[in-house]
Amino acid sequence: MSSIADNVAEADTEHPLLDTNDTKFNGKDNELRWYATLRFRLIISVALVHAILMGAFIWDAVTEQSNSIRAELQNRGHALSSLMAVATTNALLAEDLASLAEVITRIRNQPDVAYGEVLDAQGNILASTDATRVGQRIVPQIMVSDKMPLSANDHVLDLREHIHVAGRDVGSVFLGLSTDNLDKALAATRNEGLLFILFALVIGSLAAGALSFATTRNLHAMTMAVRRLTSGDLNVRVTAKGHDEVGLLARAFNTMVASLQRSSRQVKMEHEKRTEAERLACVGELSASIAHEIRNPLSAIINSVNLLARGDLQADDQKQVTHIVNAESERLQRILNDFLTFSRIPHSDMQTIELCHLIRDTVILLSNDPELPDNVKVETHLPATSCMGRMDKDQIRQVLMNLIMNGVQAMPDGGTLSIEVVSESDKLSVRIIDDGIGIPDSLVEKVIRPFVTGRKNGTGLGLSIVQRILMQHGTKLDIVSHPDTGTEMSFSLQAA
Ligand SMILES: Nc1ncnc2c1ncn2[C@@H]1O[C@H](COP(=O)(O)OP(=O)(O)OP(=O)(O)O)[C@@H](O)[C@H]1O
Ligand SMILES: [Mg+2]
Repeated sequence: MSSIADNVAEADTEHPLLDTNDTKFNGKDNELRWYATLRFRLIISVALVHAILMGAFIWDAVTEQSNSIRAELQNRGHALSSLMAVATTNALLAEDLASLAEVITRIRNQPDVAYGEVLDAQGNILASTDATRVGQRIVPQIMVSDKMPLSANDHVLDLREHIHVAGRDVGSVFLGLSTDNLDKALAATRNEGLLFILFALVIGSLAAGALSFATTRNLHAMTMAVRRLTSGDLNVRVTAKGHDEVGLLARAFNTMVASLQRSSRQVKMEHEKRTEAERLACVGELSASIAHEIRNPLSAIINSVNLLARGDLQADDQKQVTHIVNAESERLQRILNDFLTFSRIPHSDMQTIELCHLIRDTVILLSNDPELPDNVKVETHLPATSCMGRMDKDQIRQVLMNLIMNGVQAMPDGGTLSIEVVSESDKLSVRIIDDGIGIPDSLVEKVIRPFVTGRKNGTGLGLSIVQRILMQHGTKLDIVSHPDTGTEMSFSLQAA
């Protein structure tokens, strides 16, 4: 007997394209209950049908056999009582008690005889197998029936026969045959029948078990295969046995999985091709952006160095050109530093952090920054209760700094920058709102891309860094901005 595991072909890979969330087999609905299995129902129904049919057949045979044994006993009884009547007629007429006693003795020696009696016409017992009854008189009522068993409950078949001579009733004979042997024979036949039914039940169950196993083995193998398929294993196959409906279903299943595997391979290849093309396009775009960003400061530096190399500059001009070289070199350095930060954002080290403390510390840090203009007011609206969240502390501080600095830079004429935290059931929502110049509609979608800037000295990497960090935290930046009214930048973090 092969195991289910043998029927499911081995496989060692999972496929990411299969959706395994909707179709988990772990729920209670998918647990196998033995009493509800096809196998159990088949065994029970086949065994029952078998037992009922065999039972009916055996019952019929037992009844028939018992009737024939009973009829045989009755016939023997009637023959014996008739014989007794013939043998006693003359003795009765002659009132020869000795002959009657002799007949009774012979009758007693016959098998199954329980009693035998000879009565005269008045009901007086003239001879009996029970000597104490000789001389007694039988009550007339019980002498009414003729050739009928008098009682069926005392394990004795009672028979009586009247003796008529020339139309005159001269007496009667009573005979009782013991039914013990008959009862024993019937009980033996019944027991044999029960044994046969039991045997039929066992044979029926075994046959049903074999039948149900043959029917359901492919179903079990298929259930296991479907489970593996839903967990993403496209290499799974069922070893389809037999040419019944389930065997055909198993083969159809294999064909379906093979076709699914082919399509999945195709989709995967196309996905890889597209990803590669997108990656190349992205690298090209990024290289172009970097080249574009560093070209201006680099040209300024080259021109300035050429001027200085000529050696004919006045002292003031020389000072100014040197200043340009310094400023543009610093700009170049800033671009490269920001780009390195952007491209090397480390893996987020998630910890449980009090976000409100982090925001207060960041605001204090920024308020001491000389770059923060006096005409910008920074407000915080934080929950009174603690706001614990899961985050990488340094990275979220960087996010806050970048967003706050952008807000401050968007308010050259001063304004209010507000930082709000709302604690919801499983998340902390953070909003940074300024009433600055806002972002032009054409730029809103693009500002999170690298090197997209609307500021003269900006590198355009601040929001790209923010977006990448938030993505590592499983969230993203939402931007709502209206030119001249201000900007709202928001994101949420997982509460702890
Ligand atoms: N709060 C804001 N209000 C208005 N414009 C904004 C705001 N935040 C971002 N922007 C616009 O989006 C652009 C991109 O911002 P980002 O932070 O990515 O780069 P940056 O600020 O230009 O340079 P840096 O790399 O120094 O941050 C900004 O140049 C600015 O035009
Ligand atoms: Mg910025």
